[in-house]
Amino acid sequence: MAVSYVRMKLRCVLPCAVALLGIGIADAQSAPVSSIPHLEKRGKATQMIVDGRPFLILAGELTNSASSSMEYMEPFWPKLAAANMNTVLAAVTWELVEPEPGQFDFSLVDGAIREARRNRLHLIFLWFGSWKNADSTYTPLWVKKNPKQYPLFLAENGQSITYLSAFKEGNWTADANAYAALMRHIREVDGEAHTVIMMQVENEVGCPGGTRDQLPEAKAAFNAPVPRALMDFMAKNKEELVPEFREYWQVAGGKTSGTWTEVFGDHPMTNEIFMAWYYALYLDKVAKAGKAEYALPMYINVDLGESIGGYSAGGALPIQLNVWQQGAPGIDIIGPDIYLPNFEEWCARYDRAGNPLWIPETRGDAANLFTAVGNHAAMGFSPFGIERQTDATTPLAQAYGLLAEAAPEILEAQAKGTIKAVLLNAQHPAETVQLGNYSFAFSVGRARQPAPPATPAPGGTAAGAQPVAAGGGRGGSGVGAAQASSYAILVSTGPDDYTILGSGLQAMFNGPGGSAAAVAKLEEGAYVDGRWVPGRRLNGDDIMLNYDAPNKAIKGESGQGFRLAAGAPKALHLKIYTY
Ligand code: DGJ
Repeated sequence: MAVSYVRMKLRCVLPCAVALLGIGIADAQSAPVSSIPHLEKRGKATQMIVDGRPFLILAGELTNSASSSMEYMEPFWPKLAAANMNTVLAAVTWELVEPEPGQFDFSLVDGAIREARRNRLHLIFLWFGSWKNADSTYTPLWVKKNPKQYPLFLAENGQSITYLSAFKEGNWTADANAYAALMRHIREVDGEAHTVIMMQVENEVGCPGGTRDQLPEAKAAFNAPVPRALMDFMAKNKEELVPEFREYWQVAGGKTSGTWTEVFGDHPMTNEIFMAWYYALYLDKVAKAGKAEYALPMYINVDLGESIGGYSAGGALPIQLNVWQQGAPGIDIIGPDIYLPNFEEWCARYDRAGNPLWIPETRGDAANLFTAVGNHAAMGFSPFGIERQTDATTPLAQAYGLLAEAAPEILEAQAKGTIKAVLLNAQHPAETVQLGNYSFAFSVGRARQPAPPATPAPGGTAAGAQPVAAGGGRGGSGVGAAQASSYAILVSTGPDDYTILGSGLQAMFNGPGGSAAAVAKLEEGAYVDGRWVPGRRLNGDDIMLNYDAPNKAIKGESGQGFRLAAGAPKALHLKIYTY
């Protein structure tokens, strides 16, 4: 099938698009594959490689309609760059790309690439093709008006709904045809510059919870045996299946052949597993048609929910990870759109089964960014509605600024597994993290208040000095309210050396076996072009979390540690010694 796309004759309504971009046509297909943005397994992490180097995607997704107008977008591009983003996710819609069958218009694609380059940004395009949030509102009118040729999902009540059916070849062929044309165009205009680094195929696909398509082909597929490609994989990899999927199958009897109901039981979730398989096959065809033209990494995003009816059914929910991976090998990543409160739990559920963590949609929460990057080797993070959050002083923009500077060190640590994150708040005010030779007892810091006129307690902090930590020793003047969340990334950079990036917390530490440990050297500083440039050398009040050394010694502690003030996240370099 792929060859036919390569040979396909495109009638582009903007034949001079390439010239408008001011770039030559790159022969990316003859270029070595490694020069194309791609995913690479580096040690313990799978990372995005752009122009030969690991790349941490610090992104934001535009609202759905933003990229349909270059005029609308014009003021936002520089603001997005100023808010420390390195990548923007922008919709490319089937209805605007192929307004008439076989007639393509890539002017918006070219405009986005041009503006992204001008502002030193990368792009990830979201292909709003057959489905966007389960529905098919982005298909061209010539598809919408012709349900005979492009059939719709038939609901159990006998009504067609406006979702394209996943069971009709005409649907996936038309979609794949347009997507292949898009990828061919991107290769032609961007195969050398690599502004576009990844593609999202469709958007949050799925259907009403617990249901399945009732078209004759769909019914026949449901009453046929579960395809061997899925069945054999399950039988061979039983122990490695995600536990909730294995359990669902085992509870139904763990059969290794039979119809969908025989294998998975007569339950609404069986409909969802069945739909997941057929959505996966469909998206695989679309993705592969695109990759045959230009093999950028391709991912899908997932509408999450806890119970049937609370999400788009048949999407790649955690229970469906294996089904989707088997059905759609052309999809490289399954990305959760995490809007639900238990952020880290969702990260953990997608940081499984060999799936690299990429969060295509979420809220702009800097603490969650640190958690995903530090604890789950996330390759990137992308809050939704980003052109509405371009203030360069938001915590997210500040966190992006710091992570962008420290990215080479972070990416190296992800690959080596020498990185951890900590996230504290009122409900979870303390946590001990073991990394390398030391364990760190983190606790929530206190927002600094104006210096009080008080006389310091004996041996305590002087007025105006850094406030004493929560639960810290004497002399607690200047203690204020804890900020909503406190967060840090801890990187082990040598046997006794650490980089700490974070905000609103503090930690004391112990050596091996709980031995006493103290600060050999603590520096604040910044990264300039990836190189550490030290600022103040910290000592005295700035390392003493508790001045009561004699009493601390009884517990094997030195009373020394580090603090990161609330507000914009900062970087510290720490060397420890034991005594
Ligand atoms: C999830 C979708 O994937 C996005 O395109 C957008 O519609 C958001 N929801 C809105 O919150």
